[in-house]
Amino acid sequence: DEYDLVITNAVCVTAADVSPYDVAIKDEKIALLAPSGSLKNAKTKRLIDAEGGYVMPGGIDCHVHLEEPSMFGKGSSADSFETGTRSAVAGGNTTIVAFAPQQKTQDSLLEALGNTHKLAKDNCYCDYGFHLLVSNPGPKALSEFDQLVDSEGITSLKIYMTYTALQLRDNEILSVLLAARQRHILTMIHAENGDVLEWLTDQLEAQGKLAPKYHSNSRPPILESEATNRAIALSSLIANTPILLVHVSDPAAALRIRQAQTAGQPIFAETCPQYLFLTRDDLDKPGFEGAKCVCSPPPRNVEDQLQIWTGLRNGTFAVLSSDHCPFRFDDAVTGKKTCVTHEHPVGKFRYIPNGLPGIETRMPLAFSARKLALTKFVEVTSTNAAKLYGLYPKKGSMIPGVSDADLVIWYPDGKLDGLEVTNSMLHHDVDYTPYEGRKVNNWPRYTIIRGKVVWDRDGEGLVGTKGYGQFVKRKQGTLNEIWETVDEQGAFDLENL
Ligand code: URP
Ligand code: ZN
Ligand code: ZN
Ligand code: ZN
Repeated sequence: DEYDLVITNAVCVTAADVSPYDVAIKDEKIALLAPSGSLKNAKTKRLIDAEGGYVMPGGIDCHVHLEEPSMFGKGSSADSFETGTRSAVAGGNTTIVAFAPQQKTQDSLLEALGNTHKLAKDNCYCDYGFHLLVSNPGPKALSEFDQLVDSEGITSLKIYMTYTALQLRDNEILSVLLAARQRHILTMIHAENGDVLEWLTDQLEAQGKLAPKYHSNSRPPILESEATNRAIALSSLIANTPILLVHVSDPAAALRIRQAQTAGQPIFAETCPQYLFLTRDDLDKPGFEGAKCVCSPPPRNVEDQLQIWTGLRNGTFAVLSSDHCPFRFDDAVTGKKTCVTHEHPVGKFRYIPNGLPGIETRMPLAFSARKLALTKFVEVTSTNAAKLYGLYPKKGSMIPGVSDADLVIWYPDGKLDGLEVTNSMLHHDVDYTPYEGRKVNNWPRYTIIRGKVVWDRDGEGLVGTKGYGQFVKRKQGTLNEIWETVDEQGAFDLENL
């Protein structure tokens, strides 16, 4: 029996263990984990010597925006499914879950999903799935939840409490939560109070405060903790339907989440590298430069970063995702700079497209920081994402005969110390990285998807092909047995309120 690939001299890390093993791969699956060195003479088409480097389940990035229409009506976010997934694999990711956006003017979610499928098909370097982005939860959309789950393999959706083009009112949120609870769909929520930030933005503009840094003043932490508290309250009203608070930046919001978790509510949360590595000072640069770090919620301060790391370590945050939502700095149609005019040389922060590139830097930045135990790193970058979104154990683990051979291999410690991140080394279709000049001490050396090497940093770099990535139909999530717990409570019943 011949293997397709054997990895020797590996230190394997899963969410549970760190141990030296050789890994054998056959027919796209992990075939065998064997004592270190025991497979170095095995019959195999290819042998990789990991030289003692860590081998882990590949990164799963479950918060990715690709080719999404800009909120200002013109063009879309910078990366296509091709360039975004290309960047993903060069950063150690093997699966992404991107958004399929429903327009406010669109009634059908299935139509929105079909449109996004067309964009992704035959274009992806890595495996992929979709969350529905629900902006118009009318009767048509809600009636399609059955089909989304049963036929389309879509078991999660995202809603917004902010952004005029997408914001849902509380009554609309309740309708979504109720339908989602009935179909075991996980609802991701962007929790910032949209009405308050509109008011603050008007106030700032009236005082001529237009520079990028005022984006941060228009979205103070209280907007996030208020909306987070409201989202948790709405979930509890719908007989505790599971929700996931996305891109949490504010320690007060994190504390509220932890309190709800301690009380037994099925509240999950995500944070992102921008809340670990950037601060509001990055928005306060001369001229318009700060626009490069304009995202929502905005980066906070150094003390907040420490508390967000703590939240990753103690389990408040199940996942660390990128929220990759890039807009080029210089782009005549959708660039950040389109709001810079002769009259407004520092632009107008209200019109700066929100979002940062980060799909390729998520894994190396977080790994290099060495602030998480290795098993915790795997948990928050891969395994928990797989469990939350119904991909486990096909994805996010290394179970022989069960898990896809989706792996990232790092350099041995010390081999890449002091590597400088520059935009020129990245594979996205964006003209900057907010992490320019930052030093990291490791980078994915190989990325392997279903047994195929798609990224070989010391070889020819990107060796995968677009179209290799497959759409993955997802099951209901299993993290913390969320739906079993929900079902024990019985159906939502108005008599119980
Ligand atoms: O600023 C951000 N986060 N842009 C991406 C869209 C979103 O809210 O996730
Ligand atoms: Zn969001
Ligand atoms: Zn996002
Ligand atoms: Zn049920």
